[in-house]
Amino acid sequence: MDPRQPDPQAIPVCDYEGSDYQARFWTNQGREYEDLAERIAIRHMLPPRGGCLLEIGTGFGRLVDLYQGYERIVLLDYSRSMLRQAQERLGQGKKYTYVAANLYDMPLVDRLVDAVCMVRVIHHVADVADALGQIHRVLRPGGTFVLEYANKRNLKSMFRYALGRQSWSPFDPEPVEFVSLNYDYHPRWMNARLADQGFAVEQTRTVSHLRVPILKRAFPARALAAVDGALQWTGRWWQYTPSVFVRSRRGGQAAGERSGFPADPGELFRCPACTGRRWQQMASEIHCQSCDARWPIDGGIYDFKERL
Ligand SMILES: C[S@@+](CC[C@H](N)C(=O)[O-])C[C@H]1O[C@@H](n2cnc3c(N)ncnc32)[C@H](O)[C@@H]1O
Repeated sequence: MDPRQPDPQAIPVCDYEGSDYQARFWTNQGREYEDLAERIAIRHMLPPRGGCLLEIGTGFGRLVDLYQGYERIVLLDYSRSMLRQAQERLGQGKKYTYVAANLYDMPLVDRLVDAVCMVRVIHHVADVADALGQIHRVLRPGGTFVLEYANKRNLKSMFRYALGRQSWSPFDPEPVEFVSLNYDYHPRWMNARLADQGFAVEQTRTVSHLRVPILKRAFPARALAAVDGALQWTGRWWQYTPSVFVRSRRGGQAAGERSGFPADPGELFRCPACTGRRWQQMASEIHCQSCDARWPIDGGIYDFKERL
């Protein structure tokens, strides 16, 4: 390993293995408005069609119906059980490649994908620079990156701070870890990190303007989401919502979109142990010919978390 690179194994991960995230957070939990508002933002920001899209931290695949204009969709998550839930929803069709891996150590070859989407994930990321560097590596030059992050400078946190109910300042640009491995970020800070890693921010949409319990009780989610959608474009001027979406583009000489999708695993995966790309694929494992590492394929999920 390059001694200048942080050891990905040393960065703590918010582990959702075995989590009931879908049931606890989404199903009948009063978040239909947030779900609809996020969908509006993604529809506006993500190119509707393309060759290959990567969703990082896909969870149970809540947003995957929005990516159907892409020929191939790579769904990556650290949690095997979340991927299993996604697979139960979406099936094992050829369109999807399920990958269990750490986003700090993605087993994907450089410049593979045309678009990356990452929603409700970076708030668990302890090393943002390293994560964005990995995304930059796997995105083709000119490719699109849609990122959602939790905004520390939102109206609620500003009121709480003014009333003395919150110790940290929403105006301080540094991230705040309000609970272990849960971070809120300042828009200026996040834009600077994107620029550091070679992304050019093209569009910012503010999301969940109306995340206020009394409004959510009083009005149907669809009506609130429609109003939110009409306000989201103001994100180009100011960002005071709890959630912010940014569309950025990877710099560098733009290459054409990949048409079709590699049948050979060497065009898709690089070995997390040695970065080699010579593979022998069998029904239940994939074997690196360069370093001899063997990684399981379990029920259609490529598992690059622990070698056999
Ligand atoms: C809050 S859930 C969001 C799921 C989905 N993006 C959504 O919006 O419904 C966060 C997801 O990020 C995944 N995750 C967290 N840290 C990760 C890491 N280091 N590498 C890959 N996935 C990670 C978790 O396993 C979990 O599925």
